[in-house]
Amino acid sequence: MTEMQRFIEGLPKTELHMHIEGSLEPELMFELAKRNDIKLPYASVEEVRKAYQFTELQDFLDIYYQGMGVLQTVQDFYDLTMAYMTKIHAQKVQHTEIFFDPQGHTERGVSFETAIDGITRALKDAETEYGITSKLIMCFLRHLDELSAERTLDTALSFKTRIAGVGLDSSELGHPPSKFQNVFARAKSEGFLLVAHAGEEGPPEYVKEALDLLHVDRLDHGNRSLEDDGLTARLIKEQMALTVCPLSNYKLAGVTDMTKHPLKKMLDLGLKATINSDDPAYFGGYMTENYLAVADALDLTKEEIATLARNGIEASFCDEDEKIVLMAKLNSYLQMNGVA
Ligand code: HPA
Ligand code: ZN
Repeated sequence: MTEMQRFIEGLPKTELHMHIEGSLEPELMFELAKRNDIKLPYASVEEVRKAYQFTELQDFLDIYYQGMGVLQTVQDFYDLTMAYMTKIHAQKVQHTEIFFDPQGHTERGVSFETAIDGITRALKDAETEYGITSKLIMCFLRHLDELSAERTLDTALSFKTRIAGVGLDSSELGHPPSKFQNVFARAKSEGFLLVAHAGEEGPPEYVKEALDLLHVDRLDHGNRSLEDDGLTARLIKEQMALTVCPLSNYKLAGVTDMTKHPLKKMLDLGLKATINSDDPAYFGGYMTENYLAVADALDLTKEEIATLARNGIEASFCDEDEKIVLMAKLNSYLQMNGVA
């Protein structure tokens, strides 16, 4: 093991962009299919893994929506979430802000309540067992219409104390943020924090819409912002956080070679970039693997890794007291490792 590997493995981490349905490992997919008597279109775990070859976002999404079909009961959502929390506990994640896709479940007859009950019970147990704090963000599926998002927000109001924010995910091209202006405005007035996927496959214009029309507090991905100098300057000036997902970018072919990943450029420019796993079961790794991939390919220094970890805390939706606790733990690790 290299010194950098050891440093990254022990680093206290914060995750801000992870779709819980995207943490469904093939082994658990098979177990839940058996439990719920569902026939999968794959004969084995190996066959599932082989199917995880994507050339664009939609290829992945088709398999992702199919995979989540095995999630039926509160216990299934609990097991899914607990498996993720156990995994990230081993990777020294201290705090995580996870997405879920309620419409991915309600559209196939599984209630909002079933999904959120299983997820939040596991989050609570993981905090007790592992000391990991968490927040839950509900995403609207952008390939569906705004009315469907409005109905989802109506339902979410009954579970308001368990949901920190709302986001926007799924097929980006052809579904600009402007399509969801009204529902985001209402979510904001209800006190939810706001995020949106933008600039993953979509143009810089979509990032501008997320800022100006949705008024997001944080941007998910944002990679294509770099194509627009004015927008990049604005993101730097406003210190708008970007939740960057390196292995996801690589797997979905936005980035053909990890050495060409824009993260290093983002850091050099002073953009507030963070490291995240997106859909770890589908893209080949959790937080540690994502940090390792960029550290290696972009030859990052320990100081740059430390900046990414600090950005994760600063960009989180924790209150100031919680951030102080997270930062103290990180700083003590950095000091022990000779990083100022
Ligand atoms: N992009 C957009 N939507 C998604 C993703 C993603 O990477 N993962 C799950 N839903
Ligand atoms: Zn995502």
